[in-house]
Amino acid sequence: MRLLIMPDPHSATRFAANEIASLMIERPNPVLGLATGRTMEGVYRDLCGMHREEGLDFSTTTSFNLDEYVGLSAADPCSYHHYMNALLFSHVNSRPDAIHLPAGDAPDLDAECIAYEESIRASGGIDLQLLGIGDTGHIGFNEPPSPFDSRTRCVTLNQKTRIQNAAMFGGNPDAVPTRALTMGVGTILEARQLLLLALGQSKAAIIAKALEGPVGPQVSASAIRLHTQCTVILDEESASAL
Ligand code: GLP
Repeated sequence: MRLLIMPDPHSATRFAANEIASLMIERPNPVLGLATGRTMEGVYRDLCGMHREEGLDFSTTTSFNLDEYVGLSAADPCSYHHYMNALLFSHVNSRPDAIHLPAGDAPDLDAECIAYEESIRASGGIDLQLLGIGDTGHIGFNEPPSPFDSRTRCVTLNQKTRIQNAAMFGGNPDAVPTRALTMGVGTILEARQLLLLALGQSKAAIIAKALEGPVGPQVSASAIRLHTQCTVILDEESASAL
């Protein structure tokens, strides 16, 4: 595992954006695994800037997002699909047919999860998977305990996660959906490269558990330590309990 502790959040997101951009330039048809949450806002801001100012090309990139809330359509302002459109896709030259998120409003959620796995496989697999971390140690929405061989599936969200994510739902945890579709830990571990980013004091304790505690399903993010091509980017605050 490559661990980088950057002096501030901006240098951390900039480093992550540069890693993604380098891969997009090196690979002819890159496949990115994308993540959501406040942590990623700076990464997408930097990638949009690179597109605008340096011509970073998204037209050959395929992307798969980690997760989506059950019951929300792509147009719902609280959905991750809407977040991705607002922060990245509407500002760059992505091909709409190359953008993938699980459909939280699919009539058959199990079939949607199977189809999502098939699309990832058909793309040739994810080159680089971007990851944040939740207070429960989740990556994607893999709440503990999530088996390390789990695949894309429907999960029930931990109450702690609903509280953590309430800001996007008018500050009301009860307005946060109770379920989500998420890539599994096994799906994530199949990406050729992992890039986990965490920022701020509130992530310090869970980062210490994930990187220095026991590796196991009680902390989904600890699974990244089993991957041979894994980079963790922290700012000084999120690294403060290591
Ligand atoms: C959500 C997402 C996770 C993300 C987490 C962290 O729960 N499903 O993929 O890592 O938020 O969010 P934030 O960056 O807002 O702290």
